[in-house]
Amino acid sequence: MKAVVVEQYAPIDQIELKDIPHPLLEPGQLRIRVEAAGIGFVDGLKIQGLYQTKDPLPFIPGTEFAGIVDEAPGRPGGYQPGMRVMGMTRSGALAEEIVVTPAALYPLPDGVAAEVAASFRANYLTALYALSARASLCAGEQILVLGAAGGTGVAAVQIGKLLGARVIAAASTPDKREFAQQHGADAVIDYTQTGWRDKLKELTGGHGADVIFDPVGGEISVQAFRSIAWRGRHLVIGFAAGAIPALPFNLPLLKGGALLGVDLAQLPTREPELQKRLMSELTNWLANGELKPVVGRVFALEDFREAFRTMQTRGALGKMVVRISR
Ligand SMILES: NC(=O)c1ccc[n+]([C@@H]2O[C@H](COP(=O)([O-])OP(=O)(O)OC[C@H]3O[C@@H](n4cnc5c(N)ncnc54)[C@H](OP(=O)(O)O)[C@@H]3O)[C@@H](O)[C@H]2O)c1
Repeated sequence: MKAVVVEQYAPIDQIELKDIPHPLLEPGQLRIRVEAAGIGFVDGLKIQGLYQTKDPLPFIPGTEFAGIVDEAPGRPGGYQPGMRVMGMTRSGALAEEIVVTPAALYPLPDGVAAEVAASFRANYLTALYALSARASLCAGEQILVLGAAGGTGVAAVQIGKLLGARVIAAASTPDKREFAQQHGADAVIDYTQTGWRDKLKELTGGHGADVIFDPVGGEISVQAFRSIAWRGRHLVIGFAAGAIPALPFNLPLLKGGALLGVDLAQLPTREPELQKRLMSELTNWLANGELKPVVGRVFALEDFREAFRTMQTRGALGKMVVRISR
């Protein structure tokens, strides 16, 4: 089968598409024919060995996918050949086939395209977990989404609207701000401009942001916290800008505010029941059409490097997806 193989941690230009043997199936596992894989920020770090946990070499990158069950001896987890699924694993999704346990899978509602499913689970679950379970976002509150045209950012814009909030989207270019608005943002801010906090103050009628969704990090995070509303909640999602900010402790005191960490990777083991409830809420929205997840750009498997480059050069609108088979 064809697979992207990382033999040495390296930039994407040095990673190859290879023909390798089909993965072996062990008892309790299923073979999935992968139709599409989503490329996230973490995948870009993992191939270079820059992520906090390193995948042992060689490995196939790609943590999120959608596909069709191909082999399921003994029907593990009730799955059988022909069923459409979406999945999340530590690695292995950028390949024509992947072998997983049922715990990695979730049934795919009818009518949802593979590209949509492959860009859905990580970002939308992160957004819902953060906004609903961590920040207890209430209808009518105002949220500020940083990096609002990125994968997690645009998911937070959409989920914020579904939860009844007023969404202010911050992004670096006119295209990105327009993209966030097309997906439901009520107002936009160019946070590369020095006066952006004044604009936020104006847009919130002097109140500040009740909730800040922050996948960006760096100096912007500290500036954003300075504009938080009384009893505001600042959600730490990630550090796409590279630098991990340090927050002076007097700021939460003065603002009556909270800094809340969000780690989707720990959700299945720490709070499995919560994950189940959030996934069922998301898939209901997906199945009844209330939530239309954003697929950024779709690339052919041969063009996988371009998908990584687009994301790594701050050029992506939404999540990048690689189409693998029909
Ligand atoms: N905590 C969790 O459970 C969880 C789950 C998923 C992802 N994450 C993390 O969240 C972060 C964002 O992930 P994502 O998938 O949303 O990424 P993404 O699609 O690449 O979006 C990140 C956004 O950050 C902004 N940005 C600012 N400076 C940047 C820089 N130097 N390089 C790249 N982007 C920059 C960009 O928006 P502008 O150009 O508008 O500034 C970009 O749209 C990553 O650190 C990822 O690891 C965490």
